[in-house]
Amino acid sequence: MDINTIKTQFPIFKNKINGKPLIYLDNANSSQKPKSVIDRLSKFYSKEFSNIGRSVHSLAVTATNRFEETRDLMREYINAKSREEIIFTKNATEAINLVASTYGDKFINSGDEILITELEHHANYVPWHFLRKKKGAVIKFAKSNDKGEVDIDEIKKLITNKTKIISITHLSNVTGFIMPVKKIVDLAREKKIPVLVDGCQGAPHLKIDMQELGCDFYAISCHKMYGPTGVGVLYAKKKWLDVLPPYQGGGGMIEEVKKDNITFPGSPTKFEAGTLQTAEVVGFSESIKFINDIGIKNIMEHEKEILEYGLEEIRKNNSVNIIGNPKNRGSIISFTIKGIHPHDIATILDEDGVAIRAGHHCCQILHEKMGISASARASLGIYNTKDDIDVLSDAIKKCNKIFNT
Ligand SMILES: Cc1ncc(COP(=O)(O)O)c(C=O)c1O
Repeated sequence: MDINTIKTQFPIFKNKINGKPLIYLDNANSSQKPKSVIDRLSKFYSKEFSNIGRSVHSLAVTATNRFEETRDLMREYINAKSREEIIFTKNATEAINLVASTYGDKFINSGDEILITELEHHANYVPWHFLRKKKGAVIKFAKSNDKGEVDIDEIKKLITNKTKIISITHLSNVTGFIMPVKKIVDLAREKKIPVLVDGCQGAPHLKIDMQELGCDFYAISCHKMYGPTGVGVLYAKKKWLDVLPPYQGGGGMIEEVKKDNITFPGSPTKFEAGTLQTAEVVGFSESIKFINDIGIKNIMEHEKEILEYGLEEIRKNNSVNIIGNPKNRGSIISFTIKGIHPHDIATILDEDGVAIRAGHHCCQILHEKMGISASARASLGIYNTKDDIDVLSDAIKKCNKIFNT
């Protein structure tokens, strides 16, 4: 696998940032797009565009078929049992909101408990907070330890006969910790508690298999998988989709509408109201093909190698404090440098073409727990190399020089 050849598939790397080659290390936020995805969007708009699932003219039929082909590819990618279990949303946030709203409406009442962890992104806390406000439910937080991990015993200890759902991240977007999802699902199954997995950082970087994981819901952010913005996926077991009410109402999601009653079709139609992000979903099919062509196992191996090199290099700099040290981790390195605000770090790195993220990364609970308000975060993608890490370490040393740390 030649990473430099893979990199040439991404037109953005032809550009200079502040006169320097782009070193893109903000992949946990969103990834860059290969030419095949960009071209697919353009081809769809130039040659195939129509709204889908409504008209019967040729363009509409072709567009509908192309859209549905992505659903099939996604089913295969995550090994879901059926295509009905794949629902397109506008992002992972909407996928989690869909579950919190529909499952919450139907199955969660006052005093019921929702179990999440201190590692969660706001997308996997705020929707449950809305439900807490609406229904008088209780949110319990499984504690994270100094390594930025959540021990399964912390989760075990919080499960009661009032626990109605466990909602956990697959891979922390701050510490990189990979949650033992299968073990948690096994634990939950004994008590018949459904498990939602926020797979935003899992889907692009880990092999994910719904039959192996066994979770009930899995939320995916397609723009982090080298795909277009405006696309998310909710995987849900059919048994839930059959009983959950629709999320949003409107065109495209009804069976029959009368003045005194409305009936709804099955999934996924019931959950996909209004005109969808048609071109983006079609474009996303090329992202799945891109990942499949390289092979997720090769991606994992490559990112592991760069991560280990990155950790080793950054640890050589005594002024840098890496946030967490999980044993089982994905390709994310969050850090602080004493005496330099993370926004200043990101700005100085940007001068050298290095794109990282600075802030709380939508994880304020975790940052507060770590006693900081923000951190800098370098997160890897398939196109990153050891040379990128060298530029990053040199740019960090430049921060040390400027701030005399
Ligand atoms: C762990 C995690 N969950 C949820 C999200 C939200 O994803 P989206 O913005 O696609 O809804 C992100 C995005 O950064 C994330 O990293």
